[in-house]
Amino acid sequence: MTVTRSVVLGCGSYLPARLVTNDDLTKIVETSDEWIVQRTGIRERHIAADGELTSDLGVAAARAALADAKVDGQSIDLIVLATSTPDNTFPASAVAVQAALGITRGAAFDLQAVCSGFVYGMATADGLLRAGVHQRALVIGAETFSRILDWTDRSTCVLFGDGAGAVVMEAQQQAGTREDRGLLTAHLRSDGRHKKKLYVDGGPSSTGTVGHLRMEGKEVFRFAVGAITDVIKDVFRDTGYTADDLDWFVPHQANKRIIDGSAHKLGIAPEKVVMTVDRHGNTSAASIPLALDVAVKDGRIKRGDLVLLEAMGGGFTWGAALVRW
Ligand code: UT7
Repeated sequence: MTVTRSVVLGCGSYLPARLVTNDDLTKIVETSDEWIVQRTGIRERHIAADGELTSDLGVAAARAALADAKVDGQSIDLIVLATSTPDNTFPASAVAVQAALGITRGAAFDLQAVCSGFVYGMATADGLLRAGVHQRALVIGAETFSRILDWTDRSTCVLFGDGAGAVVMEAQQQAGTREDRGLLTAHLRSDGRHKKKLYVDGGPSSTGTVGHLRMEGKEVFRFAVGAITDVIKDVFRDTGYTADDLDWFVPHQANKRIIDGSAHKLGIAPEKVVMTVDRHGNTSAASIPLALDVAVKDGRIKRGDLVLLEAMGGGFTWGAALVRW
């Protein structure tokens, strides 16, 4: 019996040109390369230029993904842009991407689930593709977190970076076997009781300002490993796959210690873990598609590979998705 699945046709990413090292940050706040590397694994991050917008990053990543997928932008009838740092309060940055790509049909909207945004975005696009509402989607994670950081707060400003990544997904009939390509399952979770542990202290309806990111880092850290491992166990239960079946684990890149801890608890071998947090920092919704693109372009992730994605962030939100590439 055939089934409709959302197959990834290609991916792409974009990083702003400006590179900021840990040593550069020691000139702004009281910190050290040693502290940042030891506590987070981060060595450098990219920061958007003045006037370079989230949608600009998203457009660049989308163009790269379209080229990689070898499809024309005109064939896209759905754009889901995961971001917490939109160009403006409205309209959605997704419509800016849509216009820049010259697309005038279908639908484009933003999705806000903070660092879990890309997993939420893939799951949302998958639902619309499998229902037959749309045929070919761009799912983008794009962020300019540098614009919402308090650059006097060393406990947060050293952690984040800017960037964007994208995938093209298409509804395809698959045979309904273990070899099927596409998104095999996605599990999404949230628990708003934790909304004050990682948040932005401003917004259109509360202060009328953009605000700055605030985080109880230790609390987030404590919650992350348990939440991530729980939702991934659900993915394994749902699909019958185990850690041994995975070819690659592409987690949200917030902190090397969280990634190592989760992989260890799940029995995922370290050599299967794609790690980019050292070079990108935490790029929120962009971190997974950025990491995916690195591992696809350097030849690690190949067609047919079983790839596990996972993210956790503000809300709290979290989720995991299993994809046969
Ligand atoms: O993507 C969304 C999810 N976000 C995350 O996953 C982030 C989760 N949290 C974390 O990654 C970690 O909690 C942090 C990296 C944010 C912090 O690491 P930690 O091991 O939990 O350190 P801490 O917050 O307990 O801070 C330890 C010390 C403190 O000093 P005292 O009070 O012990 O004297 C901080 O003031 O480190 C100090 N500190 C710093 N020192 C140098 C905090 N930030 C810095 C800094 N440089 N940048």
